[in-house]
Order: sequence, then C-alpha cells, then structure tokens
Amino acid sequence: YGSMKSNPAGHLEIGGCDAVTLAAEFGTPLYVMDEEQIRANCRAYVHSFARHYPNSEVVYASKVFSTVAMCRLAEEENMGLDVVSGGELYTALQAGFPADRIYFHGNNKTAPELLMAIDAKVGRIVVDNLHELELLNELAAARKTAVSIMLRVSPGIDAHTHHYIKTGMIDSKFGLAIANGQALAAVRAALARENLAVHGFHCHIGSQIFDLKSYTEAAESMMSFVREASVQTGFIAKELNLGGGLGIFYTEGDTPQPIERFVQEIVKAVTVAAGRYDLPRPKIIVEPGRSIVGEAGVTLYTVGSIKEIPGVRKYVAVDGGMTDNPRPALYQAQYEAALANKINHVSVQTVSIAGKCCESGDMLIWDIELPVVEPGDILVVAATGAYNYSMASNYNRNLRPAVVFVQNGKADLIVRRETYEAIIQNDVLPERMRKLP
Ligand code: LLP
Repeated sequence: YGSMKSNPAGHLEIGGCDAVTLAAEFGTPLYVMDEEQIRANCRAYVHSFARHYPNSEVVYASKVFSTVAMCRLAEEENMGLDVVSGGELYTALQAGFPADRIYFHGNNKTAPELLMAIDAKVGRIVVDNLHELELLNELAAARKTAVSIMLRVSPGIDAHTHHYIKTGMIDSKFGLAIANGQALAAVRAALARENLAVHGFHCHIGSQIFDLKSYTEAAESMMSFVREASVQTGFIAKELNLGGGLGIFYTEGDTPQPIERFVQEIVKAVTVAAGRYDLPRPKIIVEPGRSIVGEAGVTLYTVGSIKEIPGVRKYVAVDGGMTDNPRPALYQAQYEAALANKINHVSVQTVSIAGKCCESGDMLIWDIELPVVEPGDILVVAATGAYNYSMASNYNRNLRPAVVFVQNGKADLIVRRETYEAIIQNDVLPERMRKLP
C-alpha cells in the first residue's frame, strides 16, 4: 500500500512517519491517511481524463471521507465534489469549496437541504425522482431562480454480477429507470418546468467494481438513452455522469483495475456510441470515492485483552471496532492487518481481531496470521481510508477517533478525537429531573 514500509526501528512507516510514534502522539484508535497517495490517486484520474477526453470533470464522492481538509484537498487537485446531504454540503462550503463545482445527490433531499443548495448556487442538483423534480421546481420558483439539474437514471446494469440482468435494477430506491419509461417522463417534465435547466444524465452502477465491462455497458446504455431522449423530446444531453465505483485492494483475491484503463474504456465506449447514434460527445463526469482514499488510509489500534479458548480460538481485542469500522459487521468486509511495532516479525499463529463494543458481531477480522501478540502492541488495519471515518458511530458512547494526514515525515491533525464533553453536548436534562444544588 502506497508509501508503507518498515523503518530501521522495525516499525511500520507511512508517509515517512513511524506508526508507533503516531499512536503515542495522537492516541488510538487513529485513522492515518497518506496525503501523497490521495493526491496521486486524484491526479491519476484528472491527468488521464485530460489526456484522453478534456471535456470532462472528476468529482470526488465526499461521502467516502468528508472533512474540511479533504474537501480542500479535492479543490486543490482541481476536482469537483459530490455531496449527498446538508451536512456534506455544509462541510464543503466551510472548506471554501467552489459551489459551482458541487454536485448534490440523494434519493430524498429535504426541502431545507434543497434550499440550502439553491441558495449556495451549487453547480448541479442531481434529481433522483419525480417528486423531487416538482419540489425543486417549486422551491426554485419561490426563490425566483432557475436551478441546473441532471437526472439520475437507472441504466439497468447489475454491476455485481457477470451476467447483466438488464431489468433487475428497476427495483432500486435510486433513480429513474429507463426500462419502465420513468426516465423519459422525467426528461419531458424537466423540460416543461420553468425553473429547472436540465443539462444531462447521471448513473451510478455500484461500488467496489472490478469488471470494467460493467462501465462500458452502462456508458452504452446511457448513450442509447441520450439518443432516445433526443428523438422523443429534442433534448440533447450535454453532460453524462457515470458515477463512481472503481474497486480497490483490501485482501487477496481483490483485483482492482488501473485508473488509466478505466478512463480509456469509458472514453472509448462513449465515443463509439456517440458515433453510432450521430450525437455530439457529451462532457463526461465520473465520481470516484473509494479509489481516491481507500488504500491511502490505515487504522491504528492498541491491543488490549487477549483471550485464548484452548482448542477453539484466540481473540485479540483492540480499543476500537465496529464504531470506527462498521464494514465487517455490515458487509462481511475483509481486511488485512499487521503489528506496526513488530512489522518484520514472522507470523506464528492464527488469531481473530475483536472490537470493544458490547456486541458479538463486533469482530474486525476472523482468522488472521500474526506474530506473537501482546497487550500494548499497535495493530494496523490496512485500506480503511474509505467509508470508515464517514460511517463511524458513537455506539456505546465510544469516541470517534482522530484523523491525521501524513506526508514527508510530518503528521497534521485534520480531525480531533471526539471528547466526552462532545458526546453529551446535545443531551438535555428536563427541568423536572434536575437536582437542586
Ligand atoms: N456517486 C454516487 C452517486 C454514489 O452513490 C457513490 C457511492 C459514489 C459516487 C462513490 O462510489 P465509490 O467510488 O466510492 O465506489 N458504504 C458502502 C459503499 C456505499 C456506496 C455508496 N455510493 C461501503 O462501505 O462499501
């Protein structure tokens, strides 16, 4: 993974920083993100598109890891930003992210969220359904303005299977299906609404995708819809947003595709389809998230209790768990781990890594080979940069960990560790329960 290596002390080093020192300085659990690797991933997308298809935009999907510093980084790397809630939009605006490069997604944006987006003048609101289309038109009218939109279309690609079940995806909470005519109906409705300016179409076929064919199929399906819409309504889409989803390496068996190949394949698919239908090539937008930050992040934990059940299993418990990484419990996601303070030691045993939450399902890793483990060791779990901090919770009133960016041997705190004061700051004690001093 990126800049990870062992240093002369026999410790793991990330971005030139000793992981054991980071754990001592910032405490554990700690998310450590390799800033250079994040920037390299951003540039891989941006440069690749600049070479193959200049009429394009790479949009960072901030749901994956949204903080003020990360929004600023995406801005510095000349990317757009995908937000899916008032909270993500607020974070982006506070980071000074240019509103005109923000895309606002979501299947149930509330009226206050939509107003926030209209007032901030975000670049595109990606309308998910017919209800939202009417609501947005009314809100825009109330504000005496017109909003720029894209329509989220469901192209009928099931990216998680090799055999695409083209109608399968009609049954999704997201988007307007092409197959049942809803997408076309939405185009007609959008064109007829005075306060909406429709620019193009969006789709997102899934996440952690290794098969580039899913993308070329989606691109072809979307271009065929661009043609259908142009024939039926005269509207020619100028923008085509193909969403995110490129997979990353977590454990053996994961086969991520190079960003360069991903870009080449979708550019080719769009170009061929545009030629076939005699359409102008639209602006291509992609929205990577996981493939920008996933492999660039690790989580450091301190090992606490170790319990051996003879003949059964050895449980190694750490000071975090499903509160900082809910993915194993939610998706049976698999991770690799090592001991950061014994990085060159050979593995001698099979153990299972338990979290500290009051829940049997709070297991981070089952059956992993590790060197001799002792309380106080620093366990590092790899590839936790995506959907970890952003999905962290306060279950058991655990504190959300701090996040540091590391680069060139320096560590910058970008999210402080939560405090106990913060945990109760919104708690209210009703008057009748208060005790007199
Ligand atoms: N664009 C849209 C409209 C999306 O819904 C998503 C992710 C992305 C872009 C970014 O996709 P990525 O490049 O990260 O695959 N929490 C789950 C993943 C949920 C994905 C949600 N949508 C997980 O931890 O695996």
